[in-house]
Amino acid sequence: MITLNRVTRIFNSRDGDEITALEDVSLEIRDNEFVTLVGPSGCGKSTLLRIVAGLILPTAGTASIGGQPITEPRSETGIVFQAPTLLPWASVLDNVLLPLRMMRRMDSGSADKAAALLKLVGLSGFEGKSPRELSGGMQQRVAICRALVHEPDILLMDEPFGALDALTREEMTMELLRIWGERPKTVLFVTHSITEAVVLADRVVVMSPRPGRIAEIIGISSPRPRSFHVEGDPVFHEASRRIRQLIFGNRHVDPGRAAA
Ligand SMILES: Nc1ncnc2c1ncn2[C@@H]1O[C@H](COP(=O)(O)OP(=O)(O)O)[C@@H](O)[C@H]1O
Ligand SMILES: [Mg+2]
Repeated sequence: MITLNRVTRIFNSRDGDEITALEDVSLEIRDNEFVTLVGPSGCGKSTLLRIVAGLILPTAGTASIGGQPITEPRSETGIVFQAPTLLPWASVLDNVLLPLRMMRRMDSGSADKAAALLKLVGLSGFEGKSPRELSGGMQQRVAICRALVHEPDILLMDEPFGALDALTREEMTMELLRIWGERPKTVLFVTHSITEAVVLADRVVVMSPRPGRIAEIIGISSPRPRSFHVEGDPVFHEASRRIRQLIFGNRHVDPGRAAA
């Protein structure tokens, strides 16, 4: 279980001002739960994710996994950032294998496993290519394979599909749900898309900015497996409407089109 207890994170800006990126955020995420994080730009979503990843520490409050304080990155956590951050000199296959190499967990099945993941995201035949021969969307799919190859128990994703075109994005969202359904893991997923947030989540954490706080946590009880067809589902409709209302106030909520 991931536990954030009254986490505050303050940054010092270049001109010496203090920026409160997160203030008094408490959140418990159960094992194998799928939690999405949605909110306007600058509300502290990436900061929250980076604290759970062990990349930065809270200024106040505590963050822990299974009761252990998070003080540094742990190898059993997989992370996908907004930008793919691949090694430019290594092949696609070697980029996917990187976590296993670093953890000294390479074995005779590793290459096959990486190739199977690449197949899953539509990149069969690209194993030997260099990242610069791939489009941005393809590179991001390689980064997703890299985050999954060591079968992490926690997967942290920061707007992972932001660089993909709309159709690939929908396809990847469904693929992620399938992967998660087959091998359950705890997922914390940051997105700007309300639809994506609701389709994926057991619970949607809606954040508000300046300072970044949790505005509301919304449970999504729609049955699984899901597809984008849940858009017609009343649970989905009501959740989307509520999230829009939390983010925009009443000015952008058109009841007839709330789930659009
Ligand atoms: N390393 C940093 N130094 C200074 N300010 C930062 C740093 N990281 C984030 N911030 C500030 O903290 C706030 C929250 O940022 P972030 O967590 O990236 O928001 P989000 O991911 O929701 O867009 C923003 O005002 C941002 O400018
Ligand atoms: Mg961000």
